[in-house]
Amino acid sequence: MGRPLSKAKPMTQEQARAAAFGASPPLLGTVRVPGDKSISHRALMIAAMALGRSRIHGLSNGADVRSTASALRAMGVRIAPAGDCWEVDGVGTGGLRQPAAALDMGNSGTSARLLIGLAASHGLVAAFTGDSSLSGRPMNRVIAPLRRIGAEIAASRGGRLPLIVRGLSPAVPLTHVMAVPSAQVKSAILLAGLNIPGTTRIVEPVATRDHSERMLRAFGADIRVDGEEIALTGEADLAARTISVPGDASAAAFLAVAALVVPGSDLCIKDVGINPGRTGLFDVLRAMGADLAFENVREAAGEPVADLRVRHSPLRAVEVPPEAAPAMIDEFPIFFIAAAFAEGTSRAFGLAELRVKESDRLAVMAAGLEAIGVEVEESRESLAIVGGGGAPRTGGTRIDPRLDHRIAMSFAVAGLHCARPVEVADMSPADTSFPGFEALIRSLAR
Ligand code: S3P
Repeated sequence: MGRPLSKAKPMTQEQARAAAFGASPPLLGTVRVPGDKSISHRALMIAAMALGRSRIHGLSNGADVRSTASALRAMGVRIAPAGDCWEVDGVGTGGLRQPAAALDMGNSGTSARLLIGLAASHGLVAAFTGDSSLSGRPMNRVIAPLRRIGAEIAASRGGRLPLIVRGLSPAVPLTHVMAVPSAQVKSAILLAGLNIPGTTRIVEPVATRDHSERMLRAFGADIRVDGEEIALTGEADLAARTISVPGDASAAAFLAVAALVVPGSDLCIKDVGINPGRTGLFDVLRAMGADLAFENVREAAGEPVADLRVRHSPLRAVEVPPEAAPAMIDEFPIFFIAAAFAEGTSRAFGLAELRVKESDRLAVMAAGLEAIGVEVEESRESLAIVGGGGAPRTGGTRIDPRLDHRIAMSFAVAGLHCARPVEVADMSPADTSFPGFEALIRSLAR
């Protein structure tokens, strides 16, 4: 007799990939991480706005970047694998076509916010959807400035997805002062500005990652940065080019912290992007006493790159002030794990943005840390973590990562130095930025 339909598991349950992480032998070896997610999104979008065929090496193979590629394809851009790179046949600024169906952004906030910007200055109508995590995230931060260029945007309650953009071409150039430090908002406005006559200006009182500025410059855009002001000349003629995307510093962060906390570890992580807007965690780890070095520093496609050498180290507690947050905004979950294995109580401040990431990272991390035996104190914008020195933490619990790749990978790393295994109820969210994370980390345990 067949199973009654009402007993069928919901889709998300069927696709969940539970995994247990227990005390690990030393992590040893030389590894590579996927291509940088932030840079990969920009490489695809900016190559799409150039004229002619660009080639992108080292593109992220994560699901988030696939969401960007699918959406661009749906708007008329040919993107195809070719040997060891991806070819993008750019349509020129203003060349995107009306998509035939809604654009599914999956779990990817960067795809959503940047592509909404791109669509806003094209004469097309595009609907944007996403998974339940993305559909809970705020979009007003891009909707408000893009309305001022003349785009019409109808969003779901609270400025969320699903939403519909009716772009305007030609749109009106914008001068925008950033209220929240956000590279996504900055980039959405810059990408819109590519197809707007005149100069788009952004004032950024707190600097955020500048991958868009670097990539736009690499493709020949007239973009000038003067102190806090960024000025982009619109109706840009971008020329196709060949790009090498560096390894993702935010992916490397999980391996680095794993090597620091698992006794005897020694890892070399090759070809990691070390843009100063992304390396805040590495600075903080060094201040905690980490043996972590950038070796063989060089440049690729306008971005600084290095090999990261990380050896197991006793860590001491640290205070992270609010001004340090933008350069390590994605690394707080794994920083909290490092702090749980440090001597003394660490404190991090200025964390309000963590509440609107793929999950409420402040609340989810605080609850998970307590579940593995770590004392924490959570406030609206800060977290204190009582470290246990180099000793294993208790573990022996199950963590629901709430569709958040960085929560899943953080507790996987924590489990590697716990007395009892940590079960992550679903490792599949890691595929958004770091496909193969679990197999890689297990392969390094010698
Ligand atoms: C990103 C910027 C950051 C970061 C996100 C990627 C980007 O978001 O958290 O993972 O690629 O521009 P905000 O700009 O919202 O801080």
